[in-house]
Amino acid sequence: MNRILVGAQWGDEGKGKIIDVLMESTDVVVRSQGGNNAGHTVEVGDKKFVLHLIPSGILRAGKKCVIGNGTVIDPLALIGEIQGLTNKGIKTLNRLFISDRAHLVMPYHRLKDAGREDSSKSKIGTTKRGIGPTYEDKVNRTGLRVHDLLDPKALRAKILDRVLLVNQECRANKWKQVKAEEIISDYLKAARFLKPYIADTVLMLDAFSRKKQSMLFEGAQGTFLDIDHGTYPFVTSSNTTSGGACTGSGVPPNAIDQVISVMKAYTTRVGEGPFPTQTEELGDLLHGMGREFGSTTGRARRCGWFDAVLTRFSTLVNGVDEIALTNLDGLDSLEKIKVCVAYTLRGKKILYPPSSIDDLKLCQPVYKIFPGWKKDLSGIKTFSTLPKTAQSYVKALAELTGARIRIVSVGPKREQTFFLK
Ligand code: IMP
Repeated sequence: MNRILVGAQWGDEGKGKIIDVLMESTDVVVRSQGGNNAGHTVEVGDKKFVLHLIPSGILRAGKKCVIGNGTVIDPLALIGEIQGLTNKGIKTLNRLFISDRAHLVMPYHRLKDAGREDSSKSKIGTTKRGIGPTYEDKVNRTGLRVHDLLDPKALRAKILDRVLLVNQECRANKWKQVKAEEIISDYLKAARFLKPYIADTVLMLDAFSRKKQSMLFEGAQGTFLDIDHGTYPFVTSSNTTSGGACTGSGVPPNAIDQVISVMKAYTTRVGEGPFPTQTEELGDLLHGMGREFGSTTGRARRCGWFDAVLTRFSTLVNGVDEIALTNLDGLDSLEKIKVCVAYTLRGKKILYPPSSIDDLKLCQPVYKIFPGWKKDLSGIKTFSTLPKTAQSYVKALAELTGARIRIVSVGPKREQTFFLK
């Protein structure tokens, strides 16, 4: 069984924890897009792990993890993550494989990302990890790929060549100059460390597939951060929707059996861009509980009511079969809970988000109000023992989203998860 897992909203839906739970019945977990802009938090026993580039499946002993060709890899950040896991007793050698076709995030990509964000009047609110500029070089056909790390002479020549051009841009923008020799030395050192992890993962995944090993494609970010289907231009630079899992891994579409979408029982977003259901009431409540701070940048996430206009579109564009609903317990203390069932745009009711960001800014949510359950859900183990009001809320979200709910999560721990029949 090969499954793709995607985020239904703007990322941070709790995918890391769901992946960790699904890994029990999976052999191989694959990342196919994005880079260390992602942040997946998993709590196992009394240990908390925050993973950025390495798939969350690494926390399950013996499972294999692949970082596919569609990702962008900052080698120094990846080494830091590997060392962090090693220090916590997690083995990565012969379990973690990185695609030789993935693109390398270079120090000048990070510099450009931060430089643009700091000086631009129309900020995207990026994570400043260099993700956009790396994908830009990929599409421009001027990027460096992981296999370049394996050829020191070619790596040196490519870096010298690129840095000449990059420094012209730096001068024009009054950014600090980058030093080619420093980058060459750091990347050659990184290459020695990473060499045993580098593989032709397309052939490797094909071999796993032939051996009937089950694969789980771990989506990063969420549907509305997708470069094509998201709230452009306030998006990331890769395809976060289910189609991206195939192009980003080299596994063909006919090998996929199921798409699972992870959605929060409310909505959050980090970074800039319109957010029709954003409300301070929910933001103050969740931040006051110590929740909804970004695991990559520490930024307070913007919070809003559940938006079915978004999740309805997400079901359509991802081909969602089943939903994992997370953070239901975040709403425990509320008397009344609002759910956006449609938007009005220029006096017309619409059920799907408009393509234009300027139109999205004009959209007004149409709300349906649900009674709260005013009960601590963190210890609930089955759907039937949820308060009736919580059951009705969950059922309504499924109906509005157009797919069946299979998993409900009521806390950060593995045990705080239950499956619906
Ligand atoms: P970038 O991916 O760093 O270029 O950032 C582009 C947009 O995507 C910004 O609004 C970021 O806050 C957002 N973003 C990137 N990665 C994540 C994530 O893992 N979770 C939530 N938002 C993200």
